[in-house]
Amino acid sequence: MERTNERTSEQASEQANGYVSVNRLTKRYGGFTAVDSLSFTVGKGEIFGFLGPNGAGKTTTLSVISTLLDFDHGEVEIAGFKLPKDEFEVKALLGLVPQEIALYQNLTAAENVALFASLYGLRGAKLKAAVEEALEFVGLADERKKRAGKMSGGMRRRLNIACGIAHKPELIIMDEPTVGVDAWSRDHILGSIRTLRNRGATIIYTSHYMPEVQSIADRIAIIDKGRLAAIGTERELLEYVTDRKAILIGVDGQAAQCAEIAVSDIRMLAGVKRVRYNAEKGEIGLDVDLALKSISPILKTLMDRGVTIRTIEEEAPNLETTFLALTGSELSADGESAAPAAGGRAGRGA
Ligand SMILES: Nc1ncnc2c1ncn2[C@@H]1O[C@H](COP(=O)(O)OP(=O)(O)O)[C@@H](O)[C@H]1O
Ligand SMILES: [Mg+2]
Repeated sequence: MERTNERTSEQASEQANGYVSVNRLTKRYGGFTAVDSLSFTVGKGEIFGFLGPNGAGKTTTLSVISTLLDFDHGEVEIAGFKLPKDEFEVKALLGLVPQEIALYQNLTAAENVALFASLYGLRGAKLKAAVEEALEFVGLADERKKRAGKMSGGMRRRLNIACGIAHKPELIIMDEPTVGVDAWSRDHILGSIRTLRNRGATIIYTSHYMPEVQSIADRIAIIDKGRLAAIGTERELLEYVTDRKAILIGVDGQAAQCAEIAVSDIRMLAGVKRVRYNAEKGEIGLDVDLALKSISPILKTLMDRGVTIRTIEEEAPNLETTFLALTGSELSADGESAAPAAGGRAGRGA
């Protein structure tokens, strides 16, 4: 859209407060508070990762920013425009890639992209060029005539992205764009996100897939039950949780029952925060106090219970353990769901 002169002073505040600025945002569904006084800012040109277990309030927050949902309290400002007042200005500068794939099954890839891009006012040759470029961009140029309903999951995800970005928005909001896709599509999508950022777009992005967020996000917000648990660069987040370290003990897979018993004994030991036993891998994963001086009691318990220890590894804290420490939830590797941790505070109760 055309920039007006009015924006110059607003652009200054954009620099100071962030390109996207969310201040004490609260959103309720009836009596249930889905987003609870959430504050964060996103700098212009950033890839901003939004992490949280299922039900954390990610989609709700992104829906508010995308002007699809009203809110109860707080301030939301994008590129100097305030919601809900400047809804149309905000709509005009953003592109949304929704979590639920939104495509017309009976339309072809090109027709789907054209339909969405035309909603942003593109017409004629400009529209045609934008459609081609977007399809090319997501690796679907050769499939332009294929109907969405006939596409694989990965292709549909990529087409969903093409529909959200064809009009070249300066703010791109992607809600779990890689859920359920094949490795090739995932890599392609991640590469596309980097390219979009390099072209100057600002990207807000949610994913359950930790390595993905680690690899592309400049800054990450971890949210849980509608509240901000932590925000910062990957390094800052890792340093934020320094009270525990992970230890991985490889054990004899034959003695699963002994290991089970040993694990429940270990759980009682001082300094042990969390124990997981994976019988299939023959692995016991432990989170222990960083201050724990010796792991001898742990090893002794295993030996007393007749468990053969094969290997011992200490893991440096990573985003996964940080996430776990902050939310009590584990992010699943396949990106489909988050499983509550034993004794954790996971779930979405009010
Ligand atoms: N339309 C709705 N009506 C009632 N509750 C909702 C609605 N949409 C979402 N919720 C609830 O709000 C919470 C946050 O949902 P959501 O923003 O979709 O989380 P996320 O995207 O992090 O998984 C969840 O507990 C969800 O069940
Ligand atoms: Mg969601």
